[in-house]
Amino acid sequence: MSNRGVRNLFVFGSLFFFVIFVALTFDTMKRLDKRAPEITAEVDEGKKLWHKYDCIGCHTILGNGSYFAPDLTKVTVNKPEGYLEKFLVNPKKVKSTAAMPALGITPDEAKKLVAFLDWVSKVDTNGWPPKPVLATFRMPQTPGVTVYQKYGCSSCHMISGVGGTSGPDLTKVASRRPDPEWHKRHLREPSALVPDSAMPAYPQISDEELNQLVDYLLTLK
Ligand code: HEC
Ligand code: HEC
Repeated sequence: MSNRGVRNLFVFGSLFFFVIFVALTFDTMKRLDKRAPEITAEVDEGKKLWHKYDCIGCHTILGNGSYFAPDLTKVTVNKPEGYLEKFLVNPKKVKSTAAMPALGITPDEAKKLVAFLDWVSKVDTNGWPPKPVLATFRMPQTPGVTVYQKYGCSSCHMISGVGGTSGPDLTKVASRRPDPEWHKRHLREPSALVPDSAMPAYPQISDEELNQLVDYLLTLK
């Protein structure tokens, strides 16, 4: 190749990749804006409280923190209204076995903290963390498993190591609770059987789905 050819290759080659680089940068910046919802004053105050109480001393969030307590990156997904606020004010009252101490959080502070956690939960993290509480686990896709996933039970319950920690581990639930009628009543109205239950009631599950779900729960032993 002549000197001129080499020079042209260098100049136009560099120019070509520079243009692609600029275009991709613009594209990324344009998308970034849409990956997180608006930050409100409440979210902002929640974040300050998050630091005040040093929540990160026990929890991880968006990849930072300690491994003593569950990751909170997607913690508000599928949680019933008001549940996390109550938990933060007095964890043991919502879940008798809670390992999280009551930190002296007021109801108003709890509302702001949950606003912050909800903002974080809505950030599009491209499927990160790799094993989120909502991961679908590898199991035979029976109708009961489909119902379990449809109603987001795994955001609170763990089965074979996958799921949330708000509710009891269900890996062996049928050994503890073998009665199908108990499960049906409990799912329709948990507090009728377990006083102060923090589990949401599921009046919206159809009778057919309820039977399928309970059949599945009874296989867990
Ligand atoms: C001393 C350690 C510790 C500190 C500090 C701490 N937590 Fe926790 N937290 C836990 C543990 C352990 C759990 C797991 C549930 C349980 O057994 O209590 C938990 C659970 C949670 C949950 C999940 C509740 C559920 O049902 O899914 C939320 C939300 C939460 N913490 C928020 C916070 C916030 C917000 C702060 C700061 C204000 C905080 N935590 C500070 C230990 C801690
Ligand atoms: C917001 C969190 C939450 C969600 C969502 C949730 N649960 Fe629960 N679940 C709990 C808590 C807390 C308890 C313990 C209190 C109780 O037994 O009612 C519980 C208890 C249970 C128990 C009894 C376990 C035992 O050992 O006694 C079963 C079974 C159960 N849940 C199944 C389900 C199914 C199925 C779904 C989905 C349709 C579901 N849960 C959704 C929080 C939740």
